[in-house]
Amino acid sequence: MENTLVLEPGRTLGVIGAGVMGTTLIRGLLDAGLVVRRQVWATARTEQTCLDVGAQLGITSQRDYREIAEASGIILVCCKPAQIEIICAKLREANLRPDTMLISILAGVTLERLESLLPGVWVRAVPNTPCVAREGMTVVCAGHKATAEHLAIAERIFSSVGRCVTVEEHYCNAVTALSGSGPAYMYLVMEALADAGVRVGLRRDLALTLVAQTMLGSAKMVLETGRHPASLRDDVTTPAGCTIGGLLMLEDGKIRSVLARAVEEATRIVEHLGKPAKH
Ligand SMILES: NC(=O)c1ccc[n+]([C@@H]2O[C@H](COP(=O)([O-])OP(=O)(O)OC[C@H]3O[C@@H](n4cnc5c(N)ncnc54)[C@H](OP(=O)(O)O)[C@@H]3O)[C@@H](O)[C@H]2O)c1
Repeated sequence: MENTLVLEPGRTLGVIGAGVMGTTLIRGLLDAGLVVRRQVWATARTEQTCLDVGAQLGITSQRDYREIAEASGIILVCCKPAQIEIICAKLREANLRPDTMLISILAGVTLERLESLLPGVWVRAVPNTPCVAREGMTVVCAGHKATAEHLAIAERIFSSVGRCVTVEEHYCNAVTALSGSGPAYMYLVMEALADAGVRVGLRRDLALTLVAQTMLGSAKMVLETGRHPASLRDDVTTPAGCTIGGLLMLEDGKIRSVLARAVEEATRIVEHLGKPAKH
């Protein structure tokens, strides 16, 4: 029992929006033993997705979830932000129990908006796509009715697909711009470095492997040693060596301020996402 999620007997875990993130979370939860198949249900917009997900994951998967939602202890809302009003309207018809924990992963949709569309126990989560490879970074934050216990359960859910920490909601836009959009920045850097490898004579596939593994290893060094990146960088930088020469070129290119401006701009944009569409 130690490893199972706190679902009371007879309660279920539902996923509304069984797309990339929704199915990734279901797989992570099943593999971590936090739920068993008979406790899980999913839904999607189309019949075809419901059929595919049901067959692939061996769980209940159907378009109309109003009846099955009633028994839910936890519901993960994983559709696109524009669908939130429709989904909350359906959940209002579903006769949910007041203690059902609702977890939204919708980018930019605030707890205030979620709670106004559907009063209940809400947790907001900001995950990123490396959840698919079980190396995701997720932050969670509590709505008005969510307790430390709810947050602990949410942390266990997202820890099944990577790391998870709790933050206050006012950090969510910055988090979205940093770790939510972050994989795209890392891919761009990897692509550019692989091109650089080709420029100095390496085969492209070899260059990309060197770059990707170097990024993975460097990230692990930071996370596992707890040392500051500048200190780790000093270890690689011998006096008058090639690394300090390369670093100088990066500084000449203003790499620090370019990265900071990118995150600043993404934060500015995310502030406008998830707001209700103007009619
Ligand atoms: N992918 C990311 O990088 C990422 C990272 C962090 C957070 N997020 C958030 O995660 C959410 C999902 O992203 P995703 O990449 O997983 O999207 P996705 O693959 O397009 O999945 C969305 C799913 O929602 C279903 N859906 C659409 N309308 C619905 C409705 N009215 N009722 C029930 N289900 C409905 C779709 O069904 P059909 O398949 O039948 O169309 C689809 O299965 C987004 O809100 C995004 O903000 C995404």
